[in-house]
Amino acid sequence: RTAAFAKDLLDVATMPRPQIDALLRLATALKMKLRRGISHSLLEGKTLGLLFQKPSTRTRVSFEAGMNQLGGHAMVLPMADIQLSRGESVADTARVLSRYLDGIVIRTYDHGIVQEWAEEATMPVINGLTDLSHPCQALSDLMTIKEKKGRFKGVKLAYIGDGNNVANSLIEAAAKVGMHIALGCPVGYQPDQHVVDRARVEAARNGSDIEVGVDPQIAVKDADVLYTDVWISMGREREQARRLRTLAPYQLNGRLLQKAKPDAIVMHCLPAHRGEEITAEVLDGPQSVIIDQAENRLHMQKAILVQLLTQKKGRA
Ligand code: CP
Ligand code: NVA
Repeated sequence: RTAAFAKDLLDVATMPRPQIDALLRLATALKMKLRRGISHSLLEGKTLGLLFQKPSTRTRVSFEAGMNQLGGHAMVLPMADIQLSRGESVADTARVLSRYLDGIVIRTYDHGIVQEWAEEATMPVINGLTDLSHPCQALSDLMTIKEKKGRFKGVKLAYIGDGNNVANSLIEAAAKVGMHIALGCPVGYQPDQHVVDRARVEAARNGSDIEVGVDPQIAVKDADVLYTDVWISMGREREQARRLRTLAPYQLNGRLLQKAKPDAIVMHCLPAHRGEEITAEVLDGPQSVIIDQAENRLHMQKAILVQLLTQKKGRA
């Protein structure tokens, strides 16, 4: 191993392109090994912590199962059971847990919390979703798009609906690999401006476009990949009525699907709300790849674990 990457995985934007390429190769190799029943105990004796301040099905179970498949052990740390919930500081918790664990996945609200963990912990910290971003999702989505479309260059991804954490990470991921991305999100629900500005610089370097608009019809025109996510993200429950009203014209339905390329695939990070952001007809239809997409969370996150947990300590 020659490349030295950052200790933590907090956002796609800060990852060098070779790291992303290496992850895509490793994830594909690990997927093949699992399929063929070839053992790949690359993390024997290592322990991963999982700290979730929001619910999770895919992220939690795929990290836990993945760690077991790699010969290591994963430990869920229920928030209510650890002293952090009684006011112990992130700094003390991170420094102590770094003496026991080889890495930790954190799902929380404020992105600043994972940044604080990364600063204080000497072990790798992996962002398992914050209000700002969901890098593990976007990285595994790159894997799915590559599998289904065979390339990134010239591919157009259209993201419709709430410009949320998943949208932010998809923008960063698209910019890194030179894939076009067009967003159709209502005013007030657009992706993070700093994320977009930074990604535009990266996209220009890699020959792709980032279009942020308010019209879903324009965004999906000639798209190869259609993507949407829930309208009411975790922590936004109080805004439910307003969100349902504003986002209603942004439903991914049969009519919108017709404006994309005939061989377009439909993606959704799940969990989904049929009848809200997407119709059952589209989500469960022949163009949907949602279950393959969810499967790839496992393979990509195993690659992330192998990459970060086998890096030498003491790097930036
Ligand atoms: N897509 C995703 O992260 O799902 P979970 O919330 O179930 O982990
Ligand atoms: N945007 C959603 C993604 C869930 C995986 C949320 O933050 O709740």
